[in-house]
This record gives sequence, C-alpha cells and structure tokens, in this order.
Amino acid sequence: MKQTIIIFGLLLVLLMGSAAAQDTAPTLRDLAQRLDFHVGVAVSSWMFDEDERFEATLAREFNLLVTENDAKWCYTQPEEGRFDFTGFDRLMDFAEANAMTVHAHVLIWHQCFPDWLAEKELSRDEALQILRNHIFTVVGRYKGRILYWDVVNEAFDEFGNLRDTHWLRWIGADYIDYAFQFAHEADPDALLFYNDFGAEAINLKSNAIYRLVSGMVQKGIPIHGVGLQTHLGVGDVGVGRPIDPAKLAENMTRLGELGLEVQITEMDVRHAGLPEAEVLQQQAGVFYQVLQTCLETPVCTAFTVWGLADHYSWLKMPDYGDNPDVAPLLFDADFQPKPAYTAVQDALARKAGAEPLLTDDAIVAMLPPRPAILQTELPEPAKSDPAQLAPDPVAGVAYYAPFPVAITLDGDTSDWADIPRSKVENVITMPDDMPSEMQFAVAADADNLYFLAEVRDSALVYGLYDVVAEWYMEDSVEFYINATGNLAPSAYESGIVQLGIAAANIANSGEPLIGGGLSGDVPIQVVVTPTEDGYTVEAAVPLQSDVWTIEPAQGGVLGFQSHLNGASVDSRDTKLIWSKADTEDQSYRDPSLFGRLIFWEAAVG
Ligand code: XIL
Repeated sequence: MKQTIIIFGLLLVLLMGSAAAQDTAPTLRDLAQRLDFHVGVAVSSWMFDEDERFEATLAREFNLLVTENDAKWCYTQPEEGRFDFTGFDRLMDFAEANAMTVHAHVLIWHQCFPDWLAEKELSRDEALQILRNHIFTVVGRYKGRILYWDVVNEAFDEFGNLRDTHWLRWIGADYIDYAFQFAHEADPDALLFYNDFGAEAINLKSNAIYRLVSGMVQKGIPIHGVGLQTHLGVGDVGVGRPIDPAKLAENMTRLGELGLEVQITEMDVRHAGLPEAEVLQQQAGVFYQVLQTCLETPVCTAFTVWGLADHYSWLKMPDYGDNPDVAPLLFDADFQPKPAYTAVQDALARKAGAEPLLTDDAIVAMLPPRPAILQTELPEPAKSDPAQLAPDPVAGVAYYAPFPVAITLDGDTSDWADIPRSKVENVITMPDDMPSEMQFAVAADADNLYFLAEVRDSALVYGLYDVVAEWYMEDSVEFYINATGNLAPSAYESGIVQLGIAAANIANSGEPLIGGGLSGDVPIQVVVTPTEDGYTVEAAVPLQSDVWTIEPAQGGVLGFQSHLNGASVDSRDTKLIWSKADTEDQSYRDPSLFGRLIFWEAAVG
C-alpha cells in the first residue's frame, strides 16, 4: 500500500511539473549546485508525513535545510534538564538522507524562551552555567553534522540598542561572546552566525550589528557569518518595503571585509489582500533583486526562503501576520511554482550561464519601483499668489520651502504671511463630531530650518501622557526630516529624524518636550501657542548639527513628512498625514514614505 502511494505521489509531482512547464528547466538545487551556492528553505518536523509533495519538493529544489523551529530552546529543552530532540533528529535524518547541508536555527532568541527559564532569577554565573549546558548539549549532539549554526538571533532593536532580554540582564552584553564561544567549543567545525531582521541595508540596526561583529572579530570570538533575514513586502504592508539593492550590497561587502560570510536567511515577501497576478509579479521582482544582489556579492553564500509553500508560512499565523490570504513564498499551497520561483530560477540560471527563463523586459517589469517620493513627476512650479515667496505645494508630495526668510519663534505668525501653507490632508482616523485640521509651512534662514503648524482643534488635550515616550497619544504635531541626501532608505539612520512636538509645550517653560525617532540627535527650539480655535507650533532646528549639514540651495531636496495627532477625549483618536506615500502611519519606521521638501530661493520670484 505504502508503495502505491509513493508511486502515485511521484506521478503527481511529475504531472504537475510538466503542467507548469518546469520539466526541462533545471531545479533551483541543480543550479545552486553548479554555482557552489546554497539555496535553502526553513521547515519544521511537523510538516513531514502530511503530504508527499512536501518532501518531494524539499529534496528536489533545495540543497540547504534550515530548522525553522525544532532547534529553538523551547523545543530542545522544554523543561529544565529535559532535552527533546525528536523533531530536530527528524530534520537531520531527512537532510542527511537527501544530501542536504543543514543550517540550524537558533540557540539564543528572546522568543520561544521557555517559562521555566523566564521565571528564574539568576546570578551571572548561574546563567552562564545554564547557557553553557544548553549549548553543549544541543550543539554537541550534532557535532560534525551541521555546517551552519545561528547562535544569536535578533539581539538588537530597530534603533541599534541591545534588546532587553533575560540573558542581557543576567549576564551582561557579553552573553553574545559567551554563546559563540560555547558553540565553538561544542563543535569547532561549525560556522557560527549572528542573525537579525531589518538590518539588510545600511541603517541603525545594521550599523550596530557591524560594530558588534567587528568587535567580536577583533577580540577573536569565533563568529563566521551574519544572517540577513530579509522579511520584505510589496505594496502597503507597512513593514519590510523593498530595500535599496546598492545598500544591501554595501552592507554585505563591509561584513565580508571583516572576513565573515553573509547569507539571506529567512526571505519572504508579504503583501496586502489577495495574491493577485500583479502582486505575484511584484513579489517575484523583490525575490529577484535580493537574490541577484546576493549572487553578485561574493561574500553571500546562501539564499534561504522562510517556508516551502505558502500555506506553511509563519505569516499565516495571527501572531505574526495580519493577512490570512498572504502568499509570501516560492510555491503555492498546491506546491506549484509561482512567478517568484521562476524569478529565483532565472537569477540562478543567468549566474550559472544556463538558459534564462525570463526575458530582460520581463525582469525590468517586475522589479520594485523606486520609493514613491522619487517617482512622482512634479508639475511646473507655479504661484497662485504673486506675493508668495515660493511656489504652491504639491499636496502630499512636495513642499517648496523659501529661503532666506527671517522668522522669529514668538507665537506671532505675521512673519509667515507670504510663505505657502500645505494641508495635512490624509485622514487615517478622526471622530466626525470633533474634526481637526492642520496646515504647515517651512522656511530657512542662514542658521535654521523653521516649521510652522497651524492646528484647528476644538478640545486641547495634553498633559495626560509621558511626553517623551507617549507624546503621540495626545495633541501633537510631527515634522520629519531626511537630510542624508538619499531618499530611498526604508529604515532610520543617522541624519533622519522624527520630531514629535507635543501641545504640552504650551504649559512648559523648560527644555522643549520632544519625542520621536532619533529626535535627540538635533537640538530644537519650540514655541507652542494656544489660539482661539486650536494652537500653533513654531519650531527651529539648526542647519548644522552633529548628524547633518543642510545647505539650502535652489532646488535642493530633503525627505519631509508631517503628521497631526489629536486626542479629543483621553487618548489619540485623530491621525492626519501629509505624505501620500504613507497610507498606513508607518513614517516612524520607514523614511522612504516621506514626501519631498524642495528649497526655493525667495529672491527667484
Ligand atoms: C517563526 C516560525 O516561522 C514560526 O513557525 C514560529 O511559530 C515562530 O517563529 N524570525 C526568526 C524566526 O528568526 O525564528 C521566526 O520563525 C520568524 C522571524
């Protein structure tokens, strides 16, 4: 009986393969083999034995097996001193039977952290003892059989600070060094990786990782690679927008210069709504771009997808994704190759000198668009009123900021008279019976960049929240600046700031109350004044600071964004956004959603 099932299964695979016209093209595994490269997939032991197509596809297409869950602490040592390797062994057996390399994921992670351990209060020595024992037992068991080990996962937050984890509290920042040392002692031949997400391009997190691993290399700590998870998205998904491939290459190369390997370790590409044909094309383009960058950057040794077929994806779990229809992987739920599969196959085939699967035009058509901010064509600048010092703003897209203009921060807006106003129009949320409105203006003199916000608000609500941490929960305005000269980054880095200015500054005579991402990087002056029907904010930041030098010049561009937050009762119920690219209130994490601020010489007329 068993045999018939297997034969039937094989037949099915063959039939479907030919239906998709994949029968003559080499598999991903064939191509990777020719390139001496690894194409990997993350799988869990509980996915086996359910559907023959799973195992068939796994062994046919991939030469690297990544343990999606079975090597995590909560599975390998679910209770103190009781180790369980049932699932891990299953994966090892399959990999070995099918001549697949293994990348084991992961020894140290703040998730899948068992309760028995979380509940403990440990001294540094006790914690080190538990860490050592765990790593020796798990890594030691498979000594010589695992090529790659993820030792530490996601130790940093998005601003590049070490995450507040149990290990950090018990041991200190050197818990990372110890984990690598223990793993190396347990299996001296394994290549040991640090792995993280959102650190693909150059940003605060990838800079922090670079500093960490440089230090480790310098101290002689056995680290051999950095894994870039690469959980990306297309369209308005709010996270992981396509990254700048040049910056990905730059990041990989600098890690390579330390003598480390780099891998794409967990790639998937999420999207909103159903996986319509157009979405699948865009998704294919993102896979293509990342793989191609990896293949063109010699230190990049593997490309791994985080799941075999769409229905296995972690993003299907409500804890991790918000779109039950998400289809983020290379194969659909019938194990049929998707456009993303063909894109990956094509990138590998071209690199291997094999017959391409796609035309050059087809590739160009699916590649991700540049960020909205750079794409929108601007109309010819025009002044609706000749007295204006700069052209009319292009709503939600571009604002022309005149310079030099004399401004004083005093609550009197007469010095702003001839400076154009732009409305913050896009309503994310707002109560019908308590509408708010905001318009802003920006200008510069020789020293500062000046912002004006004019807010109509029927009920001023402030002073209820911690102004630095939760300023956005009550009445406040936000100005965002990207002065890096590169408007594409989709994560914050030095030179990009979010200035959250709370209405609470009305009642404050000390240092300005300011929050927002990297807002501490630039000094700011603020005057917030109540008006008959709301309040005004005037603010100034210097053109010269530790993180930027802004030299206003005709046509010079900054990334720019503005928001209004309003509370009409006791917490935020109003959110208005200026930049049209930011449809989901994501500017606090993704500066590629900003619009443009264009300097305009007031004398130009
Ligand atoms: C995920 C798994 O895919 C899920 O099955 C599990 O429930 C939670 O963890 N980054 C990582 C992986 O490093 O370990 C995570 O894996 C996905 C995000």
